[in-house]
Amino acid sequence: MTDKYKYIGPLYDFLSTIYGGEAIHNCKRAMLTPDHIKPGDKVLIAGAGHGKDAIRAAEVGADVTVVDISETMLKKLEAGFQQHPGNLKVRVVHADVLKFEEFDTYDLVTANFFLNVFHKDFMLKLMKHLIRCVKPGGKFVVGDFSYPKGNALQRGMQNFYWYTAAIIFYFASDNAVHEIYNYPELMQQEGLTITDTRRYSYLGMDCYTSVLGVKKA
Ligand SMILES: C[S@@+](CC[C@H](N)C(=O)[O-])C[C@H]1O[C@@H](n2cnc3c(N)ncnc32)[C@H](O)[C@@H]1O
Repeated sequence: MTDKYKYIGPLYDFLSTIYGGEAIHNCKRAMLTPDHIKPGDKVLIAGAGHGKDAIRAAEVGADVTVVDISETMLKKLEAGFQQHPGNLKVRVVHADVLKFEEFDTYDLVTANFFLNVFHKDFMLKLMKHLIRCVKPGGKFVVGDFSYPKGNALQRGMQNFYWYTAAIIFYFASDNAVHEIYNYPELMQQEGLTITDTRRYSYLGMDCYTSVLGVKKA
């Protein structure tokens, strides 16, 4: 497996902080609270990166599994767990998410800042696959760039902000460059009912949104 995050991976969360302050990290953790998970719930974090969201889920007492294709990212994630004072545990799976087939298993599955890495057709394939991993009645969460809204200037600024990151990551890790996806709409098209949405601003812009959809029981 080629590790596309070999060089930029160690710096990923640091760069996120420079680019989005705490807003990105808060967006990732938005739905991993006792409102949505309880101790013992099975939580899957897809494309986990350094795993700030995985740590939060484990702090709540969930039974956490992370899947990531990058060894570099998983080393950072494991270091974060080891340094945590709470003796937290996580199951680490080093794999392509599409080869991870634990269907109808998880109370909550998250894809934070993960689906935006891909062109739309492949992204939709991944989204469907991850929703299959959610138990009937379980939850699927996407935290990512907010779909642009407001007047032309506001939408222009949101697009400029997104395309700056997309182009940097195109060169750094071969990520796709595409329009900002409308995750709430796409999740509804996959049969989910949106029950919670949290927005995070940065530099006065509505930059990041966490969306929670519930799968039919
Ligand atoms: C943009 S980073 C986001 C990381 C993390 N979710 C976050 O919010 O900081 C995308 C992550 O997805 C992982 N990834 C990319 N393609 C993958 C695949 N097919 N299966 C599993 N992980 C993948 C990368 O290794 C990387 O850690």
